[in-house]
Amino acid sequence: MAEPTFRAPKGTRDILPPDSGRLRALIDEFAAAAGLRGFGEVVSPMFEDLGVFKRLGEETDVVTKEMFDFLDKGDPPQHLALRPELTASICRAYAEHRPVPPWKIWYEGPQFRYEQPQAGRYRQFTQVGVEVLGADDPQVDVDVISLGWDFYRTLGLRQVELVINSMGDASCRPQYMAALTDHLVGHRSDLSPQSQVTLDRNPLRILDSKRDEDQAVIAAAPSMVDYLNEECSVHFEEVRAGLDALGIPYSMSPRLVRGFDYYTKTVFEFVGDALGGSQNAVGGGGRYDRLVEDLGGPPTAGIGFALGVDRILLACDAEGVFPGPATAVSVFVVDVTGGGHALDVCTRLREAGIGADRAYGGRSMKAQMKVADRSGAPFAAIIGEDEVAAGEVTLRDLRGEAGQRRVALDDLVRDVRALTTN
Ligand code: HAM
Repeated sequence: MAEPTFRAPKGTRDILPPDSGRLRALIDEFAAAAGLRGFGEVVSPMFEDLGVFKRLGEETDVVTKEMFDFLDKGDPPQHLALRPELTASICRAYAEHRPVPPWKIWYEGPQFRYEQPQAGRYRQFTQVGVEVLGADDPQVDVDVISLGWDFYRTLGLRQVELVINSMGDASCRPQYMAALTDHLVGHRSDLSPQSQVTLDRNPLRILDSKRDEDQAVIAAAPSMVDYLNEECSVHFEEVRAGLDALGIPYSMSPRLVRGFDYYTKTVFEFVGDALGGSQNAVGGGGRYDRLVEDLGGPPTAGIGFALGVDRILLACDAEGVFPGPATAVSVFVVDVTGGGHALDVCTRLREAGIGADRAYGGRSMKAQMKVADRSGAPFAAIIGEDEVAAGEVTLRDLRGEAGQRRVALDDLVRDVRALTTN
């Protein structure tokens, strides 16, 4: 095959049938799970004022290196960016529309980050997620985490693990930051050159580092949970008690800080063990009780998560679960009389809710039967001159043992239904 003139941009992919059907089915499954728990969908813009995303943290990788930002054609131009995630957009929307709290919403769609692409890491990827704004009750944390947990189980995934931590709040974080900074400064020369630079800007981000040189210093760093004040400590205990009550297993990860600066109190990640490698986080989230205020809204507690759909599907492949829906139509109509009758037969079937497709171009019986076979349809409805004269079609079983028989056009829907519901 000749080299194509253009290819999809680096880090992006065309998702073609049948994979696209599987992606859609996963999103539908998530929509159903969220709907069952009283979440409504929000459809947000794909781009926002860059300032919205700066609230993710000026020193985070997403803001400093990975933003797809651009100036629009206005006069003066506005500095916009493709969304790298949706939590900030949802908080911007909350500050703008002031819905009645608690506001429970879900979303799905593509996010954009200029990352180095590799398996499970793309520049355009799909997330599904939820956010709850206006409720700081630890029961909400439990509800949100259990929604994520249950969702993986619904798909059939069994090798997903939950890790949790607490980031404290504005009153206990400074003490922790002081202790962490002391520790890191004391080991400055053992850190990677990149982390030495990060140390002066945002020491917390070093805990996110995947670089080998940093791991020993990170492992010996103080834990946030040892610095929690009374309120944060009680909140975290209640979250854990709630997870225990639901029988959801988790492990504590004292260094889990997640990649954004907005987190407070509970943070969590879902790790897909079957994935291996460093791209094994299949979802993550946490509380962000100051983000709405940071975006100009009223003080509002918030918590949510986003799940990486592309990575979840890779995890499903690795575990051999969630094959995706069958996409074939039930009947392929083969018309060797010119094609006009195929139109009528297809219409009858489709109006009855039976999937039907057909060949075009008045091709030979053999050529049309080949297309029928390729379509995956279990039955062919064959129309020749004889059938037309008798007001019938020949219904042929393409995959099983039922052979073929003539059926009256008026009985076709009934007969196909009988065959396909067995
Ligand atoms: P995040 O951890 O950046 O959190 O992303 C959530 C999930 O999206 C990750 O666990 C991963 O599965 C997937 N993901 C992230 N980057 C990529 C990529 N380049 N390629 C493929 N998949 C990727 C957030 O986005 C937060 N907004 C989550 C949240 C919601 N926190 C509170 N509410």
